Amino acid sequence: MKKPMELMIALDFSKAELAEEWMDRLGDLPVVFKVGYQLFLATGPDWVAQQTARGRRIFLDLKLYDIPNTVEKGVERACDLGVEFLTLHLSSGRDALEKSQKQVEKSGSSLCLLGVTVLTSFSEQAWKDLGTALGTDEISIQGSVTGLLNLARDTGVPGIVCSGWDLRDARKVNPDFFTVVPGIRPEGSSHQDQKRVLTPKEAQEAGARAIVMGRPIFEAPDPRKLVEEILAHARQ
Ligand code: C5P
Repeated sequence: MKKPMELMIALDFSKAELAEEWMDRLGDLPVVFKVGYQLFLATGPDWVAQQTARGRRIFLDLKLYDIPNTVEKGVERACDLGVEFLTLHLSSGRDALEKSQKQVEKSGSSLCLLGVTVLTSFSEQAWKDLGTALGTDEISIQGSVTGLLNLARDTGVPGIVCSGWDLRDARKVNPDFFTVVPGIRPEGSSHQDQKRVLTPKEAQEAGARAIVMGRPIFEAPDPRKLVEEILAHARQ
């Protein structure tokens, strides 16, 4: 049977109390809470470990990017926190990715590493501008995403974070990738700084295994109702 699409709620706050308030409000629903570095720097690893000890499902979105040894050691520490998902940039390169995945396996943790391809806030022009700054004009989002997906497959990284628009390419590279899609906006809501967006329904139809949503939930007139509606569709 097809697994339901997971909903990951981005707790992009600077205060533990706010994050806890939202986890109390929504934590009885089958959702994952995403802790990014804004909240992580305000709360710390002990706080994260307390949440997982209480049974909260946590996605630690630290988007690690450094030399291989440093990334590997970061992954080792994250394995101790009981989190379910951890992000690292696929552009960290082959060595960092291989070492990180081996570290997860060595620690016996059930953590799922998620490789970030190209951030969903990049437009084609902004990506080209970055390419020019890096010394190449021959760059496209699709080309970069495909190259990074190949790297994830070759290094054994089991999950990826990508735009909903890149899901088809991701499936072609590895149909078993755990695909996580941010840049999700319900019909009619503001895109804010996200560029390559999909609605939750579109993401599900495109085969996303999980979607990430933050601001549209917190800004909704009835956040719980919105979450319940998304979960109901995700389970159809
Ligand atoms: O509020 P919003 O729904 O835009 O939040 C999206 C979340 O997903 C943010 O926490 C952002 O850091 C994260 N994210 C993203 N694009 C990626 C990877 C992660 O927007 N490629």
